[in-house]
Amino acid sequence: MAVGKAKLVVLEGIDGSGKTTQAAFLNDYIVNGLGMECLLTAEPTKSKLGLYIRGNLMDLKLNPYTMQLLFTADRAEHVSSEIIPALNKGMWVISDRYYFSTIAYAVLTGLAEKQRDALLAVNRTFIQPDLTVFLDVDPRKQLLGGRGRLEVFERMDLESKIRMREEYARLCAITPNCITVKVDNNKEEVRTLLRSFADELIRKA
Ligand code: TYD
Repeated sequence: MAVGKAKLVVLEGIDGSGKTTQAAFLNDYIVNGLGMECLLTAEPTKSKLGLYIRGNLMDLKLNPYTMQLLFTADRAEHVSSEIIPALNKGMWVISDRYYFSTIAYAVLTGLAEKQRDALLAVNRTFIQPDLTVFLDVDPRKQLLGGRGRLEVFERMDLESKIRMREEYARLCAITPNCITVKVDNNKEEVRTLLRSFADELIRKA
């Protein structure tokens, strides 16, 4: 957890859950509504490793375990070179995806429990968010239109996506400071909730 006023907030969810739009909205509220400085960031990052990962998202040329280990390595750099320095300056940090993605997408790609647990153990060594918001969309209602050719994880079958959603829910249940927000096409309701979560974090600072 971040110290003092600085807070680490993470938005999580399946592809098409609206994370990126809501992260931008929350950033705007924190900066213009609450008057705090904020770093809006995302994973995979824009580092060389992040770009290498992105280069492998159209077709899975790498073993899925290798992929999630790479996402984890990208995160290790992200934490040490961007997240912690920003928090140390007293800034808020919003990350569009963090380690729940690694575990949930490990499940999506059918990794064994042993591998999932190993990934979770490494990822739990990183700074833990002050708040993780899981934007919960039913995979049957997943909005992937207008994205052109879909990435490899977006093309997975519905049953695997349902298992991934259950994994997100399981992670939320076993992790402190995690809130599930059901996304039923009502963006305004989600925004109101995000604003109230940020206000609550400020009160606790
Ligand atoms: P995504 O958030 O969709 O990035 P962008 O919107 O810029 O394309 O992330 C790309 C994909 O990577 C997405 O399908 C989720 C997946 N992913 C993992 O499998 N593990 C991870 O740890 C992370 C961060 C993402």
